[in-house]
Amino acid sequence: MRIPVRMLLCIPLLLGLTGCETETAYNPLDDFEQLDPATIFASPEPLPSASYTPEQIARGRYLVGLLGCGSCHTDGALVGSPNGDRLLAGSSTGIAYTSPFVDDFPGIVYPANLTPDMQTGLGSWTMERLVTMVRVGTTEHSASSLPVMPWPAYAGITYDDALSIAAYLKSLAPVSHQVPANVARGQRASAPYVHFGVYQSRD
Ligand code: HEC
Repeated sequence: MRIPVRMLLCIPLLLGLTGCETETAYNPLDDFEQLDPATIFASPEPLPSASYTPEQIARGRYLVGLLGCGSCHTDGALVGSPNGDRLLAGSSTGIAYTSPFVDDFPGIVYPANLTPDMQTGLGSWTMERLVTMVRVGTTEHSASSLPVMPWPAYAGITYDDALSIAAYLKSLAPVSHQVPANVARGQRASAPYVHFGVYQSRD
């Protein structure tokens, strides 16, 4: 266990000395830079659609903005500078799902491209698969839940609202953007990542 210990290598003030040397032991947060993630920005304009009603698409757009999907699924948003040309088209910055304080190489997931691009996005997804994804956090019932993606926070959403989200995402202009592959715990990531977390003091 790494316990930050501050050692004062000086003779106390009694001697009136200045310039005491201070040595600080390893602090895991030193390896990270504090950033403000972007949380509020526009949801992209949908294309006219023959498959879904304008009300459904408007509702989906409203919910996607409200639920902050873009704050993870947009390039640059996690590090404070969302790329307006690639709104909701996936993030090249990943998110650690194990603690970088414990693992030298934490597991990393990269928020997916949510535009309906056939190769790199959700183009081939059915509406049902998207609805299930938002409500249950998996696409197959037997599969394990997606890490980081806050699906438990969305699980109470109504079927119709989840369907509206799917309709809106399906109506976006497809953007070709392949996000980096997820990285297993213990392997070194080649694309940058951030980590979320709440840290309680030890004493
Ligand atoms: C806190 C960050 C975060 C937020 C907010 C978020 N997601 Fe995600 N989402 C992720 C991550 C990370 C993944 C990839 C997880 C993985 O690969 O295991 C993901 C995966 C997905 C996938 C699966 C895509 C695929 O190709 O497998 C869909 C669909 C999705 N998110 C939709 C949404 C929608 C819709 C919202 C808003 C209602 C949303 N997400 C909000 C982080 C987030």
